[in-house]
Amino acid sequence: MDLDGKTTLITGGGRGIGEALARRFHAGGASVVVADLAGAQDVAAQLDGAVGLSADVSSEAGNVAMIDAAVEAVGPIDLFFANAGVAEGFALDDTDEATWERSFAINVHAHRWAAKRLVPDWLERGDGYFCSTASAAGLLIQIGSVPYTLTKRAAVSFAEWMAVTYGDRGIKVSCLCPQGVRTAMLDQTTGAPSGADIVKAAGAVLEPADVADIVAQAIVEEQFLILPHPEVHRYMQHKAADPARWLAGMRRLQATVLNR
Ligand SMILES: NC(=O)c1ccc[n+]([C@@H]2O[C@H](COP(=O)([O-])OP(=O)(O)OC[C@H]3O[C@@H](n4cnc5c(N)ncnc54)[C@H](O)[C@@H]3O)[C@@H](O)[C@H]2O)c1
Repeated sequence: MDLDGKTTLITGGGRGIGEALARRFHAGGASVVVADLAGAQDVAAQLDGAVGLSADVSSEAGNVAMIDAAVEAVGPIDLFFANAGVAEGFALDDTDEATWERSFAINVHAHRWAAKRLVPDWLERGDGYFCSTASAAGLLIQIGSVPYTLTKRAAVSFAEWMAVTYGDRGIKVSCLCPQGVRTAMLDQTTGAPSGADIVKAAGAVLEPADVADIVAQAIVEEQFLILPHPEVHRYMQHKAADPARWLAGMRRLQATVLNR
């Protein structure tokens, strides 16, 4: 898809990867709407003509209100980034139900609530682009966090389902699955070794702007799976070739980093 002039709505655009996407797609000529709990207006104010929206994607009503406001501001949405996300919760015994609910609402349900609002219009137009930010954790696993593992796997599956269901009717889908990216999310520290330490130990930590460049190229090429860390493709191959061996390797990594 050519980015020029495309109306582009980015959730979680107030900082991190979402902010970098907003800057990159604005630079590519897109008409950008930045949405976030906080910071969206600040980012939009730095991008000539961009619109900032305060939005909470943790409910269906929040998604509908956000998309309605974006359409009102810039017209029908051509490209939607379901990028807002949370990395919360640890193991089974130290993750409360509220954390499970928030993780599923923001990391998974927000994607389908947004798609439910966008798809009818896209089918009528025979055009539209949905890009979700899942994670390499959704293809592999997030050592140390069961909510992140489950919700990111579900986000990958939802993107695959969208691509299969609507791919022949003009709707394009991409799924961004990075490993470490230098954002506030990766800097969350709990005092104890955490999933963030595993991510940092597992490979390179990329800058958000570099990830945004890779995403822009992938969207131009309409590529489904976006892997800014090429080694993730190799890990997927190892996993598929010998799951038991791959799990043993993950246990070794866990023992090394988390001292468990
Ligand atoms: N940083 C990494 O290493 C990494 C790796 C893989 C995937 N990801 C994913 O990338 C995406 C962006 O994360 P990031 O690294 O930029 O982290 P970040 O914490 O800097 O940004 C996440 C943004 O989402 C917003 N957000 C959270 N809940 C929201 C809600 N209810 N409504 C609206 N906005 C909300 C936050 O306010 C924040 O601005 C997330 O989905 C994350 O899971 C990050």
